[in-house]
Amino acid sequence: MPTALHTYVHTRRMNGIDVKTTVDLLRRYAFLERSAIPALAGWFLRAPAYETKLALGHLLWSHADRTDAIRRRLKELRGGHSEANIEPALARVGEELVHAPDVDSFVAGMRWLLEELAAAARDHLDLADRSANAGEVRLLRRLLPDLEDQLTALRAVGSKESPNARVWTKHLAALLAAAGGVSGLEPRVPHDGALPFASRFERVREMAFDERIAPSSLESYQSRMELPFEERRIAEMQIFFNEFYAAALVATILFDAWHADAPWEFFHDLSHHFWDEVRHAEFGVLRLKELGVEPSAVNLSLFDQSQDLPFLHRLCYLTLGLEVFYMPRKKPRVKRYEDAGDHRTQLFADVDWSDEGNHVQYGRRWVEHFLKDDARGVEDLQREIAAHLKEKQVHLPAGQLSPF
Ligand SMILES: [Fe+2]
Ligand SMILES: [Fe+2]
Repeated sequence: MPTALHTYVHTRRMNGIDVKTTVDLLRRYAFLERSAIPALAGWFLRAPAYETKLALGHLLWSHADRTDAIRRRLKELRGGHSEANIEPALARVGEELVHAPDVDSFVAGMRWLLEELAAAARDHLDLADRSANAGEVRLLRRLLPDLEDQLTALRAVGSKESPNARVWTKHLAALLAAAGGVSGLEPRVPHDGALPFASRFERVREMAFDERIAPSSLESYQSRMELPFEERRIAEMQIFFNEFYAAALVATILFDAWHADAPWEFFHDLSHHFWDEVRHAEFGVLRLKELGVEPSAVNLSLFDQSQDLPFLHRLCYLTLGLEVFYMPRKKPRVKRYEDAGDHRTQLFADVDWSDEGNHVQYGRRWVEHFLKDDARGVEDLQREIAAHLKEKQVHLPAGQLSPF
């Protein structure tokens, strides 16, 4: 059946899509893409299997990256304010994504969203004029394979079609139908307002893991450095796996800051930061498995002890406290693996070092942004953080910020 966009383009005999319609479409794509970010950050904390966490982490960045690309194209058009122009029925779809009844249903909902976005992109590409709409053609040709890759990755972690998941995706589809579909051009089917599940999502304070992963103190930096090469390498890869704590910290910031007065660039940087930490945990998974060891331990103390702080303090604590503290270890670690001829581990250590430099930059930029017109400066904030942590860090050696 031809879509309403197809009918519109052919009725007007433009053989392409005018600016007003293009802008409406791109705003709607950007809104749906962006809405997935806080939902994914919330479920990243709750999904118990680390494989699911990794997939949700990659997916979150893909949504942020596509949002950013669409926003850049909107700026080149007469694009207006992308969020101010979103109709309540579509806003409802974006707000509902997080409220899945369980993790399998949430993953099914994310797959449904990707399928809807991919179908809309295909339709848009089919109908675009290759010259007049060349900007969107280039954009959508780049976004479509990314949507399809993410769909493949999500199918690998959650192919179970539970009864809950079916009810959930039907509910989301009904909400989208009430908004005229992704394009907003389809006939609107009124929604009866009924919610299929009583439970609504709440952001948890704890990071969930399944029974394979147990809380552990992990080796301290000092004791790791005294181990023979092979044991030290395993211990260091367990530290990489433990970067789930940093990813979780950034996930809480993304989730809690979502409705704060902040520019898109903040959410974009934090989404990148989050994704990097997810990848660092993935480095641990990959290398441990290659070395014949299953990931089995986490130490979430740094995450747990910062959870009562405002998101600004959590951001400052991670980027200008912990990440600055760990930085001097990075270069010697790369050198050690290079000298040992272990170029595989060297690769991961090298990329981690590079990413961490960006995280400190993000921290400087955004902590200063949020402190604008504040009576306090960065050092005052750090004093407030130190005062908060003082009670909880009594077991740490003097001058140390981290137990590992
Ligand atoms: Fe990291
Ligand atoms: Fe980092």
